[in-house]
Amino acid sequence: MSIIQPNSLLTVPTGSLQILELPAATTEANSEPIVLSLVIPTYKEAANIQKIVSILTNLLDEYIPGKYELIVVDDDSPDGTWNIAQSLMTEYPQLRVMRRQGERGLSSAVIRGWQAATGNILGVIDADLQHPPHVLLQLLQAIEEGADLAVASRHIEGGGVSSWSFVRRLLSRGAQLLGLIILPGVLSRVSDPMSGYFMLRRHCIVGKTLNPVGYKILLETIGRGNVGKIAEVGYVFSERKEGESKVTWKQYVDYIHHLIRLRVSTGRLSKFSRNFPIDRFLRFGLVGLSGVFVDMTVLYLLSDPTTLGLPLTRSKIIAGEVAILNNFLWNDIWTFADVSSQQQEWRQRLKRFLKFNIICLAGLVLNVLVLNLVFNFVIRNRYVANLIAIAVATVWNFWVNLKLSWRVTQVK
Ligand code: GDD
Ligand code: MN
Repeated sequence: MSIIQPNSLLTVPTGSLQILELPAATTEANSEPIVLSLVIPTYKEAANIQKIVSILTNLLDEYIPGKYELIVVDDDSPDGTWNIAQSLMTEYPQLRVMRRQGERGLSSAVIRGWQAATGNILGVIDADLQHPPHVLLQLLQAIEEGADLAVASRHIEGGGVSSWSFVRRLLSRGAQLLGLIILPGVLSRVSDPMSGYFMLRRHCIVGKTLNPVGYKILLETIGRGNVGKIAEVGYVFSERKEGESKVTWKQYVDYIHHLIRLRVSTGRLSKFSRNFPIDRFLRFGLVGLSGVFVDMTVLYLLSDPTTLGLPLTRSKIIAGEVAILNNFLWNDIWTFADVSSQQQEWRQRLKRFLKFNIICLAGLVLNVLVLNLVFNFVIRNRYVANLIAIAVATVWNFWVNLKLSWRVTQVK
């Protein structure tokens, strides 16, 4: 046995993100077997780390003294969070600290922590005290009573968010709705699939290679793991007092990317979905979104009474065409850069632009058709129907442009 230096950092596991079975005898002679391994992912949490470690230690020392470990996984925070955590190890003997320097990101941090864990129950909690620590014991109880996985949820009895703006609530619910459409088998199993506060039995994910993008590690765990009974415990997501959230627009894009990837790799595979170029599609979707802004801006500049005040229809046609031009240019230099760099002549470019125009026009017709069909026969809510229509038209626009305008045909 190697001698472990006091207060040394955990070695960062490398290779694939896979959780292994515990070796039969991990128990060292002088230590209790670990029941719960709780990962605390951190990035720039210098102001919170001591407090969270102290509160969790007090709680768990009461309940399972010596039988738990707290694993801080810090991504080499510039504020030295890992360093502070390391200095706490003498005072808190159940604390372990990992400092990652190559890899980054919340989800992979959690998995790396689990890989280093020695407990049979694996959990995760935020470091910023937005996840109320006492809920931890309820989660643990739920597992002891037979659940495979226990989630702290904002959307059941006893749960909530403290003071979120209307927009943030809407975005959060919108994301959930989208998830239900793309990945119902996973999203419908929990009321709060976005929760980053949960624990599960190790055996549920042993041997599975996890491959999450972004923040939503719970989705990945339920999606790829072998999870039976799920329990939920209500909690109120409190406000952050120290430090700041790392959530940016990128997390929303990552989330959608993640949903689609899970869908494709875990759902029943059709030939279509297996060959579907997801990354390219996401770029195409983003470009489409930029087109919406261009369209809106031009419409405003041309038709608003305070600006040019031109007639609405005329303004809209121009706005639509400018947006199409915008989208074409971005798609040509970004989404399909590899293809267009092979055909740079201006005549070739013009030809692509014309095709793109016609396909988008057909897409608009499809959009209107689907909107009517869905609204009249499926769901009597014009906004949901419109969302579905836009999704269908986007896939159409993408697929046909892929095959016709930029012609990315796989040659076997
Ligand atoms: N190691 C590491 N690397 N940790 C990170 C990273 C990273 O790149 N990004 C964020 N963290 C840590 C933060 O330090 C914090 O402890 C935790 O992950 C959550 O990050 P926040 O930036 O505070 O996220 P949030 O408050 O907006 O969202 C949280 O609540 C959501 C709703 O329940 C997260 O827990 C989400 O997972 C959760 O869905
Ligand atoms: Mn937070």
